[in-house]
Amino acid sequence: MRTTVGIIGAGPAGLLLARLLHNAGIDAVVLESRDRSYVERRQRAGILEQGTADVLRAAGAGERMDREGLRHDGIELRFDRRRHRVDFPALTGGRSVTVYAQTEVCKDLIALQLRDGGPLLFEAEALAVEDAGTDAPRIRFRHEGREDVLECAYVVGCDGFWGVARKAIPAGLAQVFERTYPFGWLGILADVPPSHDELVYARHDRGFALLSMRPPVTRHHPSKEVASLPIESFVSRLYLQVPDGTDAGTWSDEEIWDELERRFETDDDWRLERGPITQKSVTPMRSYVHEPMRHGRLFLAGDAAHIVPPTGAKGLNLAVGDVVTFARALTHQQETGSPELLDAYSATCLRRVWQAERFSYDMTALLHRAPAATAFEDRLQLARLERIASSRAAETDLAEAYTGFPFGGAGGDPLR
Ligand code: APR
Ligand code: PHB
Repeated sequence: MRTTVGIIGAGPAGLLLARLLHNAGIDAVVLESRDRSYVERRQRAGILEQGTADVLRAAGAGERMDREGLRHDGIELRFDRRRHRVDFPALTGGRSVTVYAQTEVCKDLIALQLRDGGPLLFEAEALAVEDAGTDAPRIRFRHEGREDVLECAYVVGCDGFWGVARKAIPAGLAQVFERTYPFGWLGILADVPPSHDELVYARHDRGFALLSMRPPVTRHHPSKEVASLPIESFVSRLYLQVPDGTDAGTWSDEEIWDELERRFETDDDWRLERGPITQKSVTPMRSYVHEPMRHGRLFLAGDAAHIVPPTGAKGLNLAVGDVVTFARALTHQQETGSPELLDAYSATCLRRVWQAERFSYDMTALLHRAPAATAFEDRLQLARLERIASSRAAETDLAEAYTGFPFGGAGGDPLR
């Protein structure tokens, strides 16, 4: 098999890249080790920066997002039993975010790719990227029990943190920057409407808690194409900071609700609604950057190159920034013959990546309680939150980073 761009991984990064290349008339093949239903069910954060929503729209993948996604103009910070709302449009000149689950982004992109894109092979596991430093890189992969080779002009590793693409960059040329955290997030999905209409980020002496949500999903009834039945209704997504290595099974549903209630408690009459918990899992927290993000004709994008802790929901948005940068650079190379944007790929992406690393780290430090935190550090945390609540400059800094920095498209086009 032969293609121009071999893409490893059908997460948001690989799927969006395939769509962007299809739109640009560049052929690509996507290899995904898991099956379709696994990819469509994997729970991840669901906050799209303004720039991410603009890119999906411009790529022709925003139709259902515009119908079902929720525009959010702010978040609430909760600390010391008090509430402070951060008003995004007022602080950023009109920017907002969209709440739309990553599972839905993936479903939309998979449907488009299967309808009009190039090959997307599920249960096709890349085993290794070979000859990355030459003009003819190859992906060795296994599909339907057979080993095969995909000959490419370029390879993009969109294969997540545990993928194989990164391993093709010689260790002597790479530098890794990493930080782990002594806590993780216990996340639940619950069949109950969210108790607040915007996200609530709560700092508490017992640890961090987050109230989020999934928009109602409209599914078509299998026998009647025309009739849309709202099979699933509004769902709450909630998280609790828990010690690193916690087994989600050790928390009963009642214990989870009791703990959420304690951490969200306010002095006013706000109440947390409880409902049946349908999913429970623990996410570890990590900050990680692999430099450079390119070696020869191998490019890394998304979680394959960097991880942020989920506080602030930057993971998906960073992946989108990377693949837009790659598609723009390759199109430029094909139109002008100049490799300058491809050569600048790693440096261009890393500028944005480090801003997101900084923001995600700061949000994590602002809101979580480290197991060894001293009383002095607790007071500093509260002072930082007070500062955000009382200074427009401090609040603007948070709002700008949360809604995301523009993708730098020329002439108002997010893809150019
Ligand atoms: N061969 C083929 N596919 C692979 C291989 C392999 N050897 N290894 C991993 N994959 C697939 C995984 O099964 C997964 O579907 O690559 C995909 C990587 O997808 P993600 O982990 O979702 O990473 P990415 O597309 O970069 O998206 C980043 O995901 O982790 C979240 O918060 C993060 O929102 C961010 C987003
Ligand atoms: C989520 O809805 O899953 C979510 C939202 C915001 C975050 C992290 C996760 O910061």
